[in-house]
Parts: sequence; C-alpha cells; structure tokens
Amino acid sequence: MITKCLFPVAGYGTRFLPATKSMPKEMLPVVNKPLVQYGVEEAIAAGMTTCAMVTGRGKRAIADHFDISYELEHQISGSGKEAYLKSIRNVLDKGVFTMVRQREMKGLGHAILTGEPLIGNEPFGVLLSDDLCLNTGPGVLAQMAELYNQFRCSIVAIQEVPKDQTHKYGVIAGESLKEGIYRVDEMVEKPDPKDAPSNLAIIGRYILTPDIFDIIRETAPGANGEIQLTDALQTQARRGCVMAYKFEGRRFDCGSVPGFVEATNFVYENYYTED
Ligand code: UTP
Repeated sequence: MITKCLFPVAGYGTRFLPATKSMPKEMLPVVNKPLVQYGVEEAIAAGMTTCAMVTGRGKRAIADHFDISYELEHQISGSGKEAYLKSIRNVLDKGVFTMVRQREMKGLGHAILTGEPLIGNEPFGVLLSDDLCLNTGPGVLAQMAELYNQFRCSIVAIQEVPKDQTHKYGVIAGESLKEGIYRVDEMVEKPDPKDAPSNLAIIGRYILTPDIFDIIRETAPGANGEIQLTDALQTQARRGCVMAYKFEGRRFDCGSVPGFVEATNFVYENYYTED
C-alpha cells in the first residue's frame, strides 16, 4: 500500500503575481479552501496519510495551515463558528505532515529529488496542487493507487487536450493496453503541436517507484537549467515500464488565471453550501 504523497509546493507562481508576491500560490482559496488542502484531502482519501511537502522561501503559511492555531481554537471553541474549522481539523486528525525546503527552484524533477529524505525507498504519490481534480467517485490518486497494485510501476495521469495546447504539457505516446491505460513509449516536455506525439497530456498526479531518485540524479538539466521530471520518466520508461492512465473526473488548471476562475465557479455551484 502506498502511504506517502509528495507535494512540490516551492514554485514561484509567477502567473498569479502580484497575489503570490508574499503568499504561496498553493494557499489561494478556491471558494473557501486553499488549493493545497484539496490536494491533501485527495491524498488522504487514497490512503496516503503522510503528506511530504517540498516547500521554499515564503511558503511558511503552508506549514502553519497544517498545524493547530491555538489562538483561533481558543477564540472560537464552543461558539457557533466552530463548524468552520471542521474540514481542516479532519485533515489534521488523519494526516502527518513532513517538510523539506528546496533552496533553489531548479524544476519539478529537482523538487522531487529534494523530497527523497521524506520518502525513502518506497513507491509514493506526487500531487501538484495547482491541478485541482474533482470526481464524484474515488479521487484521481485513489484510482491510480489501485492501478499501481496491478502494474507495480510508475504511473502518470493523462488527459486529452486540444492539439494546439501541447506546448503547455508533457505529452506521451504509447501502446493502449485497454480503455484509458497505455504503456508509455515516448514522453516529450512541452512539444510544439507539430512535434507532439499525441494529444495525451500529463497532468499533476503521479505514482512513482523510488528508482526515479537515482534516475533524476543522472538527468541533465533541460530548458532554463531546470531538471525535468518528464526526462527522468522517459528514461524510466525506456529501462522498465511507465504506465499512463486517463483518469475519471474533472481537472482544472489552477496554475492559470482562467482555470482558477473556472474551478472557483464550479466548486461554488456544485460543492459549496452556506451554513
Ligand atoms: P509550475 O511551473 O506550474 O509552477 O510547476 P510555478 O513555477 O509555481 O508557476 P509559474 O509558472 O511561475 O506561474 C509545477 C509544480 O511544481 C512545483 C510548483 O510549486 C508547482 O506545484 N515546483 C516547480 C517546485 O516545487 N519546485 C520547482 O523548482 C519548480
């Protein structure tokens, strides 16, 4: 069983400046809950109760969010407002939170390698909280954890995107084993539409086997000096096996302003209830 999930939350969130100048992007609220809490709830629901956060400078609000606020507890305990703390108390009761700081933002691959001491030698989930995934049935990580029990190799979550959008994603090509499940042959980071091997784009959910750490160590930095997880996964696919899984549910790109606004409207209309 996979019990740990890594949350790379060190990025600058430049697309949300000036909001993210002194506030972590992951703390932006979709309605009344920070993005990262949606992610943590998804991981815990998948049995990944150890949430390992790769943070950076200016991200202390995330550590504080997953801790008790004594003043707040004291202030509203026994009052009618206590119900507002229910969802975060629930998360704190079930989860364990570990943190490490990424000192230089050298890309997603580097962030994952920075998290190695929190994970150790076991398979683990990775959740990018700026991809908000919602499903009426099991969450995306829970779907992927189940698939891991069958294939025992790294798995990336994929989604079909319009062909003119491939330059925003890692894109896979592979052999379809059954509906929605592919064995990956090729993976390209942010290809031009004319070079993209398909329109199957990787989104921010992964199950990784721990050999990925050594592979990342061997991976040369790519564009902007960043170590790309996609390059490491391409090596892993070549040496062994990586699967791609077309998940069930809706995904919102909350790393971009239009995606964030769309998610906010969707959550408000479908999930929010006023007490
Ligand atoms: P993004 O590139 O989407 O996030 O990285 P960003 O850099 O914060 O956003 P922009 O482009 O500047 O607006 C995907 C995920 O990887 C994390 C980010 O926090 C985000 O969750 N990340 C990225 C790290 O933790 N460390 C890095 O060095 C790079």
